[in-house]
Amino acid sequence: MDFPTFFIETLGCQMNEQDSLRMRHRLAQAGYRPASRPEEADVLIVNTCSIRQKAEDKAYSVLGRYRLIKKSRPGCLIAVAGCLAQQKGEALLERVPDLDLVFGPRRVIEVDRLLEECRQRPGTLVAPSRSAGGPDELDCPGVTDETGLKAYVTIMEGCDNGCSYCIVPRVRGRKRSRPHRSIREEALQLVSRGVREITVLGQNVTAYRCPEDEHFAFPELLNMLCRIDGLERLRFTTSHPKDTGPELIECFGRLAPLCEHVHLPLQSGSDRMLRAMRRGYTLEEYLETIRALRDRVPEIAVTSDIIVGFPGEEEKDFEDTLEAIRAIRFDNLFSFKFSPRPGTRASLLARPLPESEKARRLEILQDAQRAISLSKNRRLEQTEVEVLVEGRSRSGDQWTGRTRTNKIVNFAGPVGLFGSMRPVTIVHGGPNSLLGRL
Ligand code: SAH
Ligand code: SF4
Ligand code: F3S
Repeated sequence: MDFPTFFIETLGCQMNEQDSLRMRHRLAQAGYRPASRPEEADVLIVNTCSIRQKAEDKAYSVLGRYRLIKKSRPGCLIAVAGCLAQQKGEALLERVPDLDLVFGPRRVIEVDRLLEECRQRPGTLVAPSRSAGGPDELDCPGVTDETGLKAYVTIMEGCDNGCSYCIVPRVRGRKRSRPHRSIREEALQLVSRGVREITVLGQNVTAYRCPEDEHFAFPELLNMLCRIDGLERLRFTTSHPKDTGPELIECFGRLAPLCEHVHLPLQSGSDRMLRAMRRGYTLEEYLETIRALRDRVPEIAVTSDIIVGFPGEEEKDFEDTLEAIRAIRFDNLFSFKFSPRPGTRASLLARPLPESEKARRLEILQDAQRAISLSKNRRLEQTEVEVLVEGRSRSGDQWTGRTRTNKIVNFAGPVGLFGSMRPVTIVHGGPNSLLGRL
């Protein structure tokens, strides 16, 4: 008998990437085979994101393509997973009528069982929330990326922060932390299978607290993981500025595997906007955290997120943001136009900005950041960095890997470097990557 084939398209953040890796693992265990193109798959899955309208639109465009494939492949199933599936549930069918399965992030580890159930009954199966007595989505065997060198380990899910613009608490639910023992077991198992780098994952990892021991918080977790023999690199994402305290900062430079990089979303350089966003810190408090991090480890890389065009954002607020990013000099910045999301407080606020004004501000911000990223990368020229060699570069003629500060380095070298840790001298710094010499 031919085993059915599947294809997964992933939209959204690392949480979704990890969920897709888990689905792949489950499906492979259940006898499915991966297809290299959606046109060849018996099961088409799109793992969706709902963070901005653009992400939502992307999901509909993927589903449009899947519907055409289904017409020419009788028996083919279309499944929608992820945050948009959680947000819309049944309502997705109004827009995309021939769906077979709709399920939320808490049920990804049941994907094979849900598909089975789907085949047995007519109509669409809509299964957003976890079934009572169903498996705990936080407790699962480790999965690696396709290189086998890196893996995510989920330590918490959901968020209690209620930033006024954000849909994540609605679609991923309230904060749930995983017991430290189970986290350690997964990490041990991954390292014993050859994983060199682990990224600790959660919507807000700095709010981690072991459910079995309230004194065991995020810094304790980092200490625990860094004691694992053979773990060479440890990263985490995403952290929240208001939970980035001295105990966490002190871990950098002391715990050898902990990489010198932190992603610390600022969102705005204007205190008035930060208040309206309900972020829980002022610009000065944020700057203080950055100073403390750089005092501790001068070469630490800091990346961030900014939202432009929040309702009521005036030219002065935007200039404050520009001034802040020029003063801080992030290594990299992800910036977005504010997108009103259903059910959030910010979607009801007065004085929304026109799209054209948001676009103008975004362009100015991104131009300013491009120059900063470039100048920071140029300053690395002639220095030596440690690179974990992850594979061939996009053009295929060089090796590629990342520094501990999470920068991409491409360099020429002999065969057989895959999976090794190499000292590389930077010969050229570009805006998005570095060119190195072995
Ligand atoms: N949990 C993480 C990630 C949240 S989503 C955190 O707290 O940082 C990633 C980024 O998307 C956010 O940092 C924010 O900059 C952006 N974002 C979230 N909601 C948005 C919205 N409604 N419009 C535009 N950008 C948004
Ligand atoms: Fe959303 Fe704020 Fe929670 Fe991040 S901290 S997931 S931006 S509510
Ligand atoms: Fe998107 Fe869900 Fe992540 S809304 S950003 S995929 S948590």
